[in-house]
Amino acid sequence: MCGIVGIVGTRPVAPLIVDALKRLEYRGYDSAGVATIESGVLDRRRAEGKLVNLQDRLDTSPLSGRIGIGHTRWATHGAPIEINAHPHFSGGVAVVHNGIIENFRDLRAALEADGFVFDSQTDTEVVAHLVEKGLRDGLPPEEAAHYAIQKLSGAFALAVMFKNDDNLIVAARNGPPLAIGHGQGEMYLGSDAVALAPFTNRITYLEDGDWAVIRRDELTIFDEHGEAVKRQQQLSVGSALLVDKGNHRHFMLKEIYEQPEVIGHTLANYVDFNAEKIALRDMGDNDNPLDFAKLDRLNITACGTAYLAGYLAKYWFERHARLPVDIDVASEFRYREVPLSKNGLSLFISQSGETADTLAGLKYCEEHGQKLAAIVNVRESTIARSSHSVFPTLAGPEIGVASTKAFTCQLAVLASLAIGAGVQRGHIDPAAETEMVRALAEAPRYANEVLKLEDEIKDLAHTLANKQHVLYLGRDTNYPLAMEGALKLKELSYIHAEAYAAGELKHGPIALIDEEMPVVVIAPHDRIFEKTVSNMQEVAARGGKIILITDPKGAAEVGMDEAKVIVMPEMPEIITPIVYALPIQMLAYHTAVHMGTDVDQPRNLAKSVTVE
Ligand code: F6R
Repeated sequence: MCGIVGIVGTRPVAPLIVDALKRLEYRGYDSAGVATIESGVLDRRRAEGKLVNLQDRLDTSPLSGRIGIGHTRWATHGAPIEINAHPHFSGGVAVVHNGIIENFRDLRAALEADGFVFDSQTDTEVVAHLVEKGLRDGLPPEEAAHYAIQKLSGAFALAVMFKNDDNLIVAARNGPPLAIGHGQGEMYLGSDAVALAPFTNRITYLEDGDWAVIRRDELTIFDEHGEAVKRQQQLSVGSALLVDKGNHRHFMLKEIYEQPEVIGHTLANYVDFNAEKIALRDMGDNDNPLDFAKLDRLNITACGTAYLAGYLAKYWFERHARLPVDIDVASEFRYREVPLSKNGLSLFISQSGETADTLAGLKYCEEHGQKLAAIVNVRESTIARSSHSVFPTLAGPEIGVASTKAFTCQLAVLASLAIGAGVQRGHIDPAAETEMVRALAEAPRYANEVLKLEDEIKDLAHTLANKQHVLYLGRDTNYPLAMEGALKLKELSYIHAEAYAAGELKHGPIALIDEEMPVVVIAPHDRIFEKTVSNMQEVAARGGKIILITDPKGAAEVGMDEAKVIVMPEMPEIITPIVYALPIQMLAYHTAVHMGTDVDQPRNLAKSVTVE
């Protein structure tokens, strides 16, 4: 993770770097730092914690200089304290780094044997010392940087600056993304194009293995074999605006409230509401449009909330399109040596489109000749650019670290794809297609209605606050939704939460139930509602405190006075997971707010996980 920025500029760059880092804070907020060169002097300011602390430090102790690099950190090696904050220095060299240098222990031992003294516990510091070693061995700065880069293994995006050359930054990419921005007599680099949006929309992305020599009026890129290469300059669509919270207390709440609109936007890309037909719009660079009828298997790979969207969609693809689905968390998939079907499709789901494990899963499938499809929220992301078929979610920038609107938009795309697949494979006839499309069209309206339940959900959330553990139960598509509920609660409130398929409770987890255990049950009145009610009875008989999320029919039938009930509107089954996600999110949000945790930036997390 971590965000990096560099500017070879014509004006004081420290404030510009901090401005760019604000847009990268989603990548980590354990510490931040900036270094500049002024009159041959390399200087830096660093601060623990969020960017605002670095800003305070710069306010009292400004940095001048027209060239600089900056960093916002998600700690991997070494505690989140100031000595581990980037930029790291060695002699006349400054380095910022995103990723992990896997062979840093061996490199560090060798450098220490050569007399280099380490100030930090980071893996990054070896890079600074290696470059400095190259300089001491007589190499010119670019060559010294290249010498260091060649010695590194692992995933990295790097920027290196040299005290004796205030018109040079060397950048390198091996894994995590790196965008180079072209300005008027200035050049920029950043972990994404949005960070650079206030300065330029003319962007060149480095490819894996590339390293670049960046000067005010010149960019030279070399590939992994050291050959000078041309990489296409693109016009970025990244918005320069830092999205604000509007009237909401947190980005997360704002993003929860945006859902009716963004779900509608997203659906409109995949559904022709006039014709009442699915109309899948593939935004990939693809001469060979996706034909689900030709597939015999779908494997879905993702992480965290995106994985749970994929898990839920397995039910849809198998039920409505009769297409067998394998679903994996990417960190397992990438090393599991999965045999892939010749006529299979590999689908990757990612809000950021940069998640390292998901990308590694994609590379595995690419090497095995699979057709690749992606559902991403960031259209210019590496996962999108590496896939044949691309189905964007139109959620807009998601700033809250806990995913909300990206999840429901992923579900909207997946529902459309599953129905489209059912049509193509002959398992959904035109009448059923029309009925399902009408159901999808209702999702934004129901989501809007559910937002009106916020006060009621807030009261229930207060009963969860300060509990040690919470269980979530659901069956069918409500099982992955229960997992998403548990994930949201633990990441936001730090309460331990687990989800089980309701029928699985009696095979072990029921031993956990006592008067102190709240159990959130997601159960719209469907064909297996009765089964879930039986599981609730088993919980109630052991004193467990039930919060049931259901519809009017379910509420009327449940017949359990001891359950607290959130009554959702009655709605078609295909859209229940999309709409039922909202009370789950609000429950976690209000529990966290009541407990006073940092809702938008929960501890230890980052929005974009570009390390393994
Ligand atoms: C949880 C959450 C994470 C992400 C996961 C994957 O609220 O946001 O679990 O879903 O890190 O991230 P992307 O979707 O960017 O690949």
